Amino acid sequence: MLAFKARIKRELQRRQELGLSRQVKEVNFGNCPVLEHGGETFLNFSSNDYLGLACDDELRRVWQKGLEIYGCGSGASPLVTGFSSAHAGLKSALCEWLGFESAVLFGSGFAANQALIFGLLEKGDLLLQDKLNHASLMEAGMLSPATMKRFKHNDVASLKALLTDDAFVITEGVFSMDGDLSPLADIRAVVKEDSLLAVDDAHGIGVLGSEGQGSCHLAQITPDVLVVTFGKAFGLSGAAILCSEEMGDYLTQFARHHVYSTAIPPSQAYALTHAVTMLQTQHWRREKLAELQHSFKENFSRFPGYVETATPIKPVLLGDSHFAVEVSQALKSKGLWSTAIRPPTVPQGTARLRITLTANHELSHVLSLAENLERLLENGSIG
Ligand SMILES: Cc1ncc(COP(=O)(O)O)c(C=O)c1O
Repeated sequence: MLAFKARIKRELQRRQELGLSRQVKEVNFGNCPVLEHGGETFLNFSSNDYLGLACDDELRRVWQKGLEIYGCGSGASPLVTGFSSAHAGLKSALCEWLGFESAVLFGSGFAANQALIFGLLEKGDLLLQDKLNHASLMEAGMLSPATMKRFKHNDVASLKALLTDDAFVITEGVFSMDGDLSPLADIRAVVKEDSLLAVDDAHGIGVLGSEGQGSCHLAQITPDVLVVTFGKAFGLSGAAILCSEEMGDYLTQFARHHVYSTAIPPSQAYALTHAVTMLQTQHWRREKLAELQHSFKENFSRFPGYVETATPIKPVLLGDSHFAVEVSQALKSKGLWSTAIRPPTVPQGTARLRITLTANHELSHVLSLAENLERLLENGSIG
């Protein structure tokens, strides 16, 4: 007991000294372009609600209708009585939209990724992951009985050097902290028949592709497994693994996060099915994002640390963790919210502002952020 207490104290102190302590902040309307914190309002450049669905009235009304039809919680796991016509409707909509035979639903993307890796891999298997894959994938890989190796970020030659005939390869479609795209067409070309390619498209689904079908559609490939999450462009939460009929059956039987966890509320599945239609048909959301991204490039490309991306994730690299926190706080004093992202979420020495754009932003919001950031960095008012 004493050892645990000492460890907790020591680790908290260490985090503090390294400038890496994190706090949960009470934020209202973090799903809107203007959020509230401590009685003040801030322009929100930190949400993953890329298409502005999280505070959309149409989606809210559909969720409310779902509540009227189905009530509140699902009441059980999917294999007991938790799987309703709303869940079935969501599965069909996802399969039709994304071109897969089967979809298995999960309470979160974190759970879906862990379920996939733990459910599928055995001792003696080889798991190959991009070095910058999300923590949910990395952690599951490290804890799974398989041998995990990491290939260099977006480096197909590095992947090829590690590949065997029957490896399980996982990459993200859009990398969450860098906003860059995986070279999916090249990766698909080297991952041959007896291997499996899985793509976690948490940040590409809804945003990329002619009808929001995501990174794989953009790269014109079909992975063996596609993970989509509902907490970003869908404006809700939860996740699905899309795959073949047989793999879907396998995961339904053996994915423990599916078998032993309460199904998402049916009203949420009902709202998610409507979100699929909104993502497919409301092209204006992607067009608005494109306009904002163009303005972002025009106004930010002169800054040191600017990184060009084809997605609404816009990192500005600042390097030192303390400095990144100072910049983030100085922006807050100007009514602008952009959280500093530090190790261990990103590699050492690459602390950054992770600026995200959403279809609910206005061009004036982007200009205001650019002007303030420029003043802070150039006038030396911080650091
Ligand atoms: C690439 C990626 N995969 C999975 C997840 C986890 O998804 P969820 O937030 O639904 O648990 C995230 C979340 O940030 C992510 O960025």
